[in-house]
Amino acid sequence: MPIKMILDCDTGVDDTMAILYATLHPEIDLLAVGSVWGNVDAPLATRNSIHAVEMCGRGDIPVATGAAGPVNQRAQDIAYHVHGRDGQGNRGTGRPVGPAAPGTAAEQIVRLCREHPGEVEVVAVGPLTNLAIALGLDAELPTLVRGVTIMGGAALAPGNVSEVAEANIWHDAEAAAAVFNAPWPLTMVGLDVTMRTLMGPEHVARLEAGGTIAQYQARIMGFYMDFFARESFGRPLSCMHDVVAVAIAAGTLVPTLAPVVNARVDSTDGPGRGQTLCDLRGMYMGYPAQEGAHCRVVLESPADFGDDFVDLLVNAGDAAIDVSEPA
Ligand code: BDR
Ligand code: CA
Repeated sequence: MPIKMILDCDTGVDDTMAILYATLHPEIDLLAVGSVWGNVDAPLATRNSIHAVEMCGRGDIPVATGAAGPVNQRAQDIAYHVHGRDGQGNRGTGRPVGPAAPGTAAEQIVRLCREHPGEVEVVAVGPLTNLAIALGLDAELPTLVRGVTIMGGAALAPGNVSEVAEANIWHDAEAAAAVFNAPWPLTMVGLDVTMRTLMGPEHVARLEAGGTIAQYQARIMGFYMDFFARESFGRPLSCMHDVVAVAIAAGTLVPTLAPVVNARVDSTDGPGRGQTLCDLRGMYMGYPAQEGAHCRVVLESPADFGDDFVDLLVNAGDAAIDVSEPA
């Protein structure tokens, strides 16, 4: 049976990969998508999410708009410098898409988890604002989900927006703290693995030789890869961040090291703000069970996942909508 999934994303380039993967993969039943601010503003994240499901001929998958900013209302930067002004590496179609679903992304999470108790994996790959709001709407939510998987945090790896903080946690540290403190099974797919799961020019070449879904993905990756060339790797490589979390949530990518430990988020205003503090002190004894621990921290997973992703997109053929670049 495919895994029922709700995907919550701030739809930039790697979020688009995540939506395409979740929509196309036969082992995932994507019930709905929620948008959130982060890489782009929330309305643009909604538009890009709808565009991605429509590409796959799945405009029936509801996409609800979520939070426009963090729970504490502090002003925050939007990551246009990473994902482009359109969140699609400045190479999107810009064309209108179908309407958003009624209600908010948080309401949608609560409603679908109530409709399918114990069955839905909620996967959040942007700031955790919608999940924190959903917790506030329904205190029983932790008992209703199958689990929660996030792309976010860094256990042993350095941060990507500060020395220690990863962007999705940093953008709404208060929301992230609430999500880590809630008593649900949480899987943290952080920079420990996502900075090591990469696509390079050889993957792009294979995508360019595929149908229009694969070609679209190849086209929007250029700007994103240039960012990583400048900031991280010195050569054009793309971190697959969000799609790695989706695949681990679905069990289509199986971690090779993922201890269940106590974990919390620094939401103070000190230099550690946004850090995910994972208690890995037992590592020298093989990570013995910790009382009350409910966070599975993914530390290692197969790095060649890019090949699987490319295979899925190439086999998907042509998009159901016109994805050509406007003249
Ligand atoms: C995360 O931040 C965003 O830019 C990406 O989409 C990913 O979710 C990586 O830190
Ligand atoms: Ca994201």
